[in-house]
This record gives sequence, C-alpha cells and structure tokens, in this order.
Amino acid sequence: MTTAKKNRTTTLTNWDRTYLWHPFTQMQEWEQEEPLIIERGKGPYLMDTEGKRYLDGTSSIWVNLHGHRHPSLNRAMKNQLDRLAHSTLLGLSNPPAIQLARELIRIAPKGLKRVFYSDNGSTAVEVALKMAVQYWQQRRPEAGPKHTFLHLKLAYHGDTIGAVSVGNIELFHSRFKALLFPTLEADPPYCYRCPLNLAYPSCQMACLDPIERILKERHRELAGFIIEPLVQAAAGMITAPPGYLKKVRELCTRYDVLLIADEVATGFGRTGKMFACQHEGVTPDLMATSKGLTGGYMPLAATLTTEEIYNAFLGTYEDFKTFFHGHSYTGNPLGCAVALANLEVFRKEKTLAQLQPKIKTMARLLESLWQLPHVGDIRQRGFMAAIELVADKKTGKPYPLEARMGHRVTAEARRRGLLLRPLGHIMVLMPPLSTDDRTLTRMVAILHQSIATVTSHPALN
Ligand SMILES: Cc1ncc(COP(=O)(O)O)c(C=O)c1O
Repeated sequence: MTTAKKNRTTTLTNWDRTYLWHPFTQMQEWEQEEPLIIERGKGPYLMDTEGKRYLDGTSSIWVNLHGHRHPSLNRAMKNQLDRLAHSTLLGLSNPPAIQLARELIRIAPKGLKRVFYSDNGSTAVEVALKMAVQYWQQRRPEAGPKHTFLHLKLAYHGDTIGAVSVGNIELFHSRFKALLFPTLEADPPYCYRCPLNLAYPSCQMACLDPIERILKERHRELAGFIIEPLVQAAAGMITAPPGYLKKVRELCTRYDVLLIADEVATGFGRTGKMFACQHEGVTPDLMATSKGLTGGYMPLAATLTTEEIYNAFLGTYEDFKTFFHGHSYTGNPLGCAVALANLEVFRKEKTLAQLQPKIKTMARLLESLWQLPHVGDIRQRGFMAAIELVADKKTGKPYPLEARMGHRVTAEARRRGLLLRPLGHIMVLMPPLSTDDRTLTRMVAILHQSIATVTSHPALN
C-alpha cells in the first residue's frame, strides 16, 4: 500500500471520528476502533480506501439487488442527471415519477392502483398510517374514530415516531415511549420461541386466535393491522408459517380493518417473488416499499394503495379531504429513473427465475451450520436468512445481550473478508440477488468459520 493511500485513510479516519455520528452505533467505542471506510463497489464486493475487498453479506443493509455498479443502473442515473436532478411533485410532475408509478402498479399485487412517493422505509410506513386514519374519517365519519393500529410484538417498521409506535423492539424503542401513540399488540409467529409453547404444524397456527379476538372486540376503533409479510426482518428474520398471511388478510377483511403490508425489507424479490404478499395471493390495502426499490442506489420509497382508499380522498378543495403530506424530495427524478432501470434489470436478466436455484443453494449451504453447537435456529425465506446463536442449544437459552455474540462474529467475519450486520445474537445473511453460487459458498464458509471460532472461545461458554 502506498504511503499516500495510508495517509489519506488516516486523515479520513480522524475526520470521521471528529465530525460524524453513525446510526445505531455506540460512538465511544467507534472512536476507539479503526473504521472501515468504503470507497468502491463492484458486484457483490465493497472495497475500502486501501483497496481491500470485502463481500457484501447484507446487501448494504438489505438494499442492493443486482450488485454494486451495475452498468444499466449506472447508465440510467447518468442519463437522468443530464436532464434533471430534481424538481418537486408538489404542483408539478416528472417523467420518471410517472413511468415508475405505472411500472409499480404493473408488478404489485393485483388491486393496488395508486403510488405515493417518499424517501425511506420509515416514511413509507408513516404515509400508510396517516392514509389509513384519514381514510376512515372520510369514508365513514359516523362510525366514530377508527385510528388505532394493531401490530405484532417484535415488529420493526422504522425509526420515525409513527413507525416506532407500531414497532416493538424494546432496545430501540423503550426510550421514546412518552412520544408514542397507543396501539394493540399480538404475539408473532415465532415458531422457534413459540409464545404459546406449541409446535408447528400441530398448533394449527393457534397464534392467530388472539389476533382474531382483538379484531373482533376492537375493530370499531382499529384503522389497520400493520405487518411485515412472511418475514419479520429486524426481529431476526422470523418466518411466518405458510397460510399465516392469507389468514391475516381474511381476518382483516372480515372485521373491516385495513391490512397494511410493510414490504420494505421483503419487497423486490427478496423472498423469491417480487413481493412477499404474492406468495399467498394477498392484496393488502396499503403497501409500504423502499430499500430494494432503487436496487440499492438512491433513497426512495413508495406507498401503494387501492382505488377505494384513493377515492375517499377526492372532493373539492373546500371539502379538505386532501392528503396533506409530502417531502421536499418526493418523487425525485434520479431515484425514480434508477428504480425504473432496476425493474428493467429484473425483466432483462430474469432475476426472479435466476434466483430460484440460488435460494435452494443457500438452503443447502446453510444446512452445514446446524452442526455447530451454538446454532439454535436457522431461518430462511427466499434470499433472506438468519442464524440464531444460543448459549445452550438444548434449551435454546439465549446469550445475554452483553456477550455481544453477533458483534463478535461480525468482527471475525470482517477479518476474513465478509461484511455482516447482526441483529443482537442473530446473524443475518442477505446478499445481493445477483450473487453467484461460488460467491455464496464463500460467504457461508466464512460465516461458518466465524461462528465456530467465536462460539468455541472458552470465556464465552
Ligand atoms: C420492515 C421494515 N420497515 C421499515 C424499515 C425502515 O426503513 P428505513 O430504514 O429505510 O427507514 C425497515 C428497515 O430495516 C424494515 O425492515
């Protein structure tokens, strides 16, 4: 490595420590560690300022789909840049925003007809919540206020206050309780740690019974049931049994409660279909998307809804039924252009068809991890996987948070050339959809070695 390169990294390191505040990061520790400063990417790899290559094992926090610096996505952004970087959707429109809305409706679950843009997963959720509340006010004002939400425990829908209100991850959310609106909660279908102490399939999804009870008793006040379809991602990739989502849809319809599907993590091919809802033929009333929408290039989000909900907002200006919500960068042309290119790559490269054998390869490779003494559970849906590390495999006793097992395994994997981001003691593997078998094999091998090395350390057992 040249001295110039080394000096530059040192300077950037000092500036980072002096000026930056990183998300979800204890900065006291950060300031003492050597930061990894990523400068380039190519396919499944990220390169640091010194030219060292790493595999991107979590798709840069679940956003990248076709690899870094994909020629079509790069071209689309450059072309758009030569026309226009940004103009507002407040009172104006722009071609990429229009074309993308049309494309999204083409690929979305049947029945979703309208697209409302925002900038990230949390705002896509905020939009859905606000639309649901206003919808009930305008459609059936005589029925009384219908503005409560039902959600699952351990849910994660983002970090803005509305999204936190319908979330339930104690470590992230407890500090903000005073700011949150009241909600109703139900147990998730966490089969490995079943809250009802039952086993699938003999349980016959008994965890749906309390949900039905809540819907039956409280539907008059419930605006919506928000759910991460098929996979509760940030909770540790908790995978719902087949048929669970469909049943949730049926219950919401029966009790006249809107179903809000948060497809921020699961959308755009992650689960093996374009949207998780499509595995069970489900059309939600509102659907929040972001992350993979731009193939991991730009912050963009879209909340999709039905014509029924859209129509409830129509009227003269004086009716004040307008949806008073928007952001400076709503419908940003650069984001929309690259999102269009992302969907075009899905078509041209047959991404979803190519993905099916890779999902099987991933499942086969992950099998080998069962033999490790501290792997309690392995969950996979499509190209999203989680490995739950436990202190005691027999009882499933978790490691204490302070043991920071996920953090330690991540550090070990980084030394071996694989970048990961754990969820507590749960390791996540979520590579770009374009990752080939050889690269996937390498990723799982590093993960295997890293878990084995760290969990065999005598001080931790
Ligand atoms: C299901 C789900 N919803 C919402 C969000 C929030 O998205 P963002 O981080 O873009 O605000 C996330 C982020 O991980 C998510 O997994």
